[in-house]
Amino acid sequence: MTGFDTALTRDARVEVPLIGGAMFPCSNPELVAAVSEAGAIGIVQPLSMEYVHRRLLRDGLRLIRQLTQKPIGMNVLIEQSSNLYLERMRRYVDIALEEGVTFYITSLGKPHWVVDRVAQVGGVVYHDVTERKWALKALDAGVRGLIAVNNRAGGHAGPKSAEQLMDELGDLGLAVVCAGGIGDAPDFVAALRMGYAGAQLGTRFIATTECTAHPDYKRAIVESDEDDIVLTERVTGVPLAVIRTSYVARVGTKAGRLARWLLRHRRTKHLMRTIYALQSAWRLKRSNFAGESSRDYWQAGRSVRGITSIEPAGEIVRRFAAAVTDRRSPAS
Ligand SMILES: Cc1cc2nc3c(=O)[nH]c(=O)nc-3n(C[C@H](O)[C@H](O)[C@H](O)COP(=O)(O)O)c2cc1C
Repeated sequence: MTGFDTALTRDARVEVPLIGGAMFPCSNPELVAAVSEAGAIGIVQPLSMEYVHRRLLRDGLRLIRQLTQKPIGMNVLIEQSSNLYLERMRRYVDIALEEGVTFYITSLGKPHWVVDRVAQVGGVVYHDVTERKWALKALDAGVRGLIAVNNRAGGHAGPKSAEQLMDELGDLGLAVVCAGGIGDAPDFVAALRMGYAGAQLGTRFIATTECTAHPDYKRAIVESDEDDIVLTERVTGVPLAVIRTSYVARVGTKAGRLARWLLRHRRTKHLMRTIYALQSAWRLKRSNFAGESSRDYWQAGRSVRGITSIEPAGEIVRRFAAAVTDRRSPAS
């Protein structure tokens, strides 16, 4: 028993207020299970499960259940512009509910329908936000918590620092989780001190023995410093945090002129976003298993600064938890 009691540990029904964040393409079922088994909560990325790791969502959830009985969560990316895609997300939520998942993290769009559906079984939704205006919409939709994605995060980073986000979001009466820049235990301790109810980590969990990403990718995370992380528009059309490999240094980080023009115009921007979404899914999937010489992108956040070795996910969770508990003990 670790003795943590935060809004996140209560909502997610876990011992340690830590989330192994959803990662397309890095969230393989074994990694999700290892994070949860250690007392934190691993989040399933359903598209990653089906498209990258080649398991139907229901089979993947059942595999995780064989590896751990502890709670897991699921990520729901709400891309409103395609009905086909929304329909698929609704199906994923139904499957996850049937398989007993009660903790959901939504990104983009309006999470109303997820909140309503999940509430029927006593489930909880946290929503990814990068600033207050999105948090107010999420509050209106009835979410229980916010994942405050800051400017050090892997994936699509936000524009603000962890401190700024706490100032902006702390008064809304919702649980606020820090996402971005947490590579080692002292960063986790600092986030809890700032008032966060917990932390969501992505990059740290790629450099683990359970993650099936290519060994060159994991090694690049361990060897990179925060200055090696750049934001590129060339993958998804909006800034994405990646390691500046020799390929990235060669091609630059700006979207091509035609793509930029198409993204700016009302009549073509949805088409361009769809092209980017399809292309990036295919490209990031390939990059997960690609070695150093490839022409692909390795996503990572500035948390690389604190990551110095490849470790089992459970050891990371236990080390982070112990760092907080040690500071609380009277001897320290
Ligand atoms: C490789 C990678 C893929 C990601 N994919 C997703 C995703 O599919 N959905 C999502 O909500 N967040 C995604 N994220 C964001 C993470 O869940 C998490 O919020 C972020 O990594 C935290 O920052 P950190 O990497 O500095 O720990 C991704 C992050 C990384 C590094």
